[in-house]
Amino acid sequence: TSGPTHEPIDPVRYIANRSSGKQGHAIARALAKLGADVTLVSGPVTIPDPDGVKTIHVERAEEMHDAVVSRLPADIGVFVAAVADWRVATSADQKIKKQPGDAPPALQLTENPDILKTVGHHEKRPKLVIGFAAETQNVEANGLSKLERKGADYILANNVSADTGIMGGAHNRVTLISKSAVDHWPDMSKSEVAERLAALIAKTFS
Ligand code: C5P
Repeated sequence: TSGPTHEPIDPVRYIANRSSGKQGHAIARALAKLGADVTLVSGPVTIPDPDGVKTIHVERAEEMHDAVVSRLPADIGVFVAAVADWRVATSADQKIKKQPGDAPPALQLTENPDILKTVGHHEKRPKLVIGFAAETQNVEANGLSKLERKGADYILANNVSADTGIMGGAHNRVTLISKSAVDHWPDMSKSEVAERLAALIAKTFS
């Protein structure tokens, strides 16, 4: 998975996040370059579909969840998308109008499905399940607890605080977390992170 999700409020408004899809798309491309048969489930992004990859476009987390689960079984699952944790419980069919004197509308939120967690505990669980953890504090501790909770083999944790420029930018600095090790990767381009991860994946399958 790659990119953000858009959760509609009404036909013209949505809740979103700053994910660009650059890291997820680069991983899809790097795996395809190594010969993997890759399906990329992408949220709304402005970057092109990677060459050599079957790309499925979705908008909402629930659509992303359904697209991913319908592709199982798979050997490897890599979950890079910044999926919205919540959606508006009942999005409006018509544009919500501002009426003079009315209070601002209150949005009632409800939880979205956790795609990584679903796949990490699925009866058709891929042999290798990899997730990301975008954090602004306690990066390693939060990454470790996600590894456990979501049933992943690896979590790539990164600090996406505004001053790092990582969200939407071309570079990334990740910490690779598994049950047995924590490995701090240096600052690299998102393509380099993708190639290093793809090489690691290939090694576990050779
Ligand atoms: O949002 P969170 O920090 O929990 O994301 C950690 C990992 O879980 C990421 O790999 C993300 O793609 C995945 N995730 C998901 N579905 C969600 C939320 C997160 O697949 N609803």
